Amino acid sequence: MLDASEGYTTEDGRKIGGVVMEMKNITLRFGGVVAIKEISFDIREGEIRAIIGPNGAGKSSMLNVISGFYLPQEGEVWFRGERRPQMKPFEVARQGIARTFQNIALFEGMSVLDNVMTGRLNHMKSGLFAQALWKGRAEAEESANRKVVENVIDFLEIQHIRKTPVSRLPYGLKKRVELARALAAQPKLLLLDEPMAGMNVEEKEDMSRFILDVNDEFGTTIALIEHDMGVVMDLSDRVVVMDYGRKIGDGTPDEVRGNQEVIDAYLGVSHD
Ligand SMILES: Nc1ncnc2c1ncn2[C@@H]1O[C@H](COP(=O)(O)OP(=O)(O)OP(=O)(O)O)[C@@H](O)[C@H]1O
Ligand SMILES: [Mg+2]
Repeated sequence: MLDASEGYTTEDGRKIGGVVMEMKNITLRFGGVVAIKEISFDIREGEIRAIIGPNGAGKSSMLNVISGFYLPQEGEVWFRGERRPQMKPFEVARQGIARTFQNIALFEGMSVLDNVMTGRLNHMKSGLFAQALWKGRAEAEESANRKVVENVIDFLEIQHIRKTPVSRLPYGLKKRVELARALAAQPKLLLLDEPMAGMNVEEKEDMSRFILDVNDEFGTTIALIEHDMGVVMDLSDRVVVMDYGRKIGDGTPDEVRGNQEVIDAYLGVSHD
């Protein structure tokens, strides 16, 4: 097993730390369907880790296990050196894990600003009762939360649409707003399920740049699912390859690209 204190340096000189998330022998079934079969892999501090594979391979299911949406029938999830007990998604979020969804999950009728504010919900200590009793404290908290949100909005360059209802935005910007909401939680680990799906080339370039900037400027560890191999090869430090619920490859982009099983199952065939 890897020593959690070990790290490595990437080709572009970024320092990757010890293991923060470790999936051990995970199996997830839906009735007779085995979505994930005995998969183990780890995610290291500061890393951009990609999960790739054909449709139905089990990639989203894996992200859903990490974020606590699905409970695997077998296996263990280790986070920061401790075995994670069974947790609800909001408890996982409180541990510093945020995510975006394959199908955008925003409040369409609400403004961009209000949607991004919902990313702070896990950080709000004062409930309604406390807010009634200690108005001052609730106001101070609200203004601190607004500051974080405004910073994220600046960072992702969406100031011009902050008052716009999400329903009026084009698809690419909705994806960016979803990223903003996840970032508003100031996560240590960010999970992105196909952040660039359905985007044009320019939108993909923008999103790639934002992902790299988040990783670089905030030191956020990122796990992402992506079908565009150019993007995966450019962005990621290490890649897990899934096929029919199994892991068929795991390594640097170059290692994965040269793996015959991966080529046969995925890279050699055309896909979107
Ligand atoms: N909630 C669910 N109930 C039943 N079966 C499910 C559920 N979620 C996923 N599955 C099944 O598990 C398998 C893996 O699905 P998953 O969505 O994880 O694949 P994926 O790799 O994300 O695919 P895609 O690239 O199309 O998003 C599929 O056979 C899918 O039909
Ligand atoms: Mg999926």
